[in-house]
Amino acid sequence: MKKLWGGRFTKSAEEWVDEFGASISFDQELVMEDIEGSMAHVAMLSKTGIITEEEAEKIKTGLQQLKEKAAKDELEYSVKLEDIHLNLESHLTELTGPVGGKLHTARSRNDQVATDMHLYLRKQVEQIVELIQEMQEELIIQAEKNVETIMPGYTHLQRAQPISFGHHLMAYFWMLERDKERFSESLKRINLSPLGAGALAGTTFPIDREYTAELLGFEGIYENSLDAVSDRDFILEFLSSSSTLMMHLSRLSEEFILWSSQEFQFIELDDSFATGSSIMPQKKNPDMAELIRGKTGRVYGNLMGLLTVLKGLPLAYNKDMQEDKEGMFDTVKTVTGSLKIFAGMIRTMKVKSEQMEKATKNDFSNATELADYLSDKGIPFREAHEIVGKLVLACVQKGCFLGGLPLDDFKNAHPLFEEDIYEVLDPYTAVKRRNSAGGTGFKQVSIAIEKAKEFLGNKEFANK
Ligand code: ARG
Repeated sequence: MKKLWGGRFTKSAEEWVDEFGASISFDQELVMEDIEGSMAHVAMLSKTGIITEEEAEKIKTGLQQLKEKAAKDELEYSVKLEDIHLNLESHLTELTGPVGGKLHTARSRNDQVATDMHLYLRKQVEQIVELIQEMQEELIIQAEKNVETIMPGYTHLQRAQPISFGHHLMAYFWMLERDKERFSESLKRINLSPLGAGALAGTTFPIDREYTAELLGFEGIYENSLDAVSDRDFILEFLSSSSTLMMHLSRLSEEFILWSSQEFQFIELDDSFATGSSIMPQKKNPDMAELIRGKTGRVYGNLMGLLTVLKGLPLAYNKDMQEDKEGMFDTVKTVTGSLKIFAGMIRTMKVKSEQMEKATKNDFSNATELADYLSDKGIPFREAHEIVGKLVLACVQKGCFLGGLPLDDFKNAHPLFEEDIYEVLDPYTAVKRRNSAGGTGFKQVSIAIEKAKEFLGNKEFANK
């Protein structure tokens, strides 16, 4: 097969060399974007009189046919034609005859591929923002059901203070809100047109870059042609936002895995998101959460990979940059899949509120309440801390918890202790009283949920 750029060559590469250099096996993912970009380019070529309207019509008809075939997955691709751009151009020329060859006037694959990637990522990021929002909705719905569900809160994975389970879930809402913001803000940089930068230097033809940018829905154009074809910051930024998002999902995965263990028994994942063991009949494994935790690694890897690809590249285009695609596609797939799975896991999980509450009763996570009690009565907190520490020690030696100590023991520790300490020690009271802004008190959690709903535009949650 003759190469589209074969003019100055006297012999062709061997097949395996072609295969090594080709990107068609993966950049066919960009077929629709490539056609869309070409449609805009050809419209511009005729508007500016670079080609005739009649020629443009023929090319457009051809491109339209290619689009229909692509939609039905009927396009055949050849490794000999290297990448999606050359494959499509060759198909087009087959359909239209030599006029198809005019499409590439005033364009290079360098600005073409960059345009494709901008179009692709814009679509994907918009979808990811929606998926994040769907997961946030599920978090709100579960949180709302569990405002008054008490669980142990942890630091160092040691029981620290009792909290509301709804409050714990809402922590992830806000992480996702920042993720959503990061992706949304990055759209500003994604939504720029490199088209018309040519190979690197612009073109001698009287093109209209603003026009193609407008046709493609871009908000503006790259100011510098070298930058336009060399920039992959927008992909790095996508991979970086994705890494942070995956880190959040991985932390929640870890919690789901812990919570669904026999040791915690705080939640049970629905059968539809768990798997069994081929040997141990009793097993119900949180595979999906584990996989999301695991897949976080490949997303970080994709970010490191592209950073490394780019770091030594002189301007402008270098073939190294073909390596920007697989990591990006893989990240899109991983992130969208993980978000969908999480929405489902949160929606269908069973919250074992009794188990959670039971856990708060059998520990010292109410010790801070006692210290607060004393300092509320004027004892310096440091001193109160010491007194309560001694009481905890006494309990450990006796084999009981704070609520099990007789009032006399408290009075001996400090005369300001009164009968009402037993109420104060109750985990439910402890949570309820943490009513500072952003705290776990029930009132605060409800306020936070309302605020969160506002952030999501107060959509209808009831029908979920
Ligand atoms: N397949 C190439 C890539 O993905 C397209 C751009 C090729 N440009 C070139 N001058 N070889 O980067």
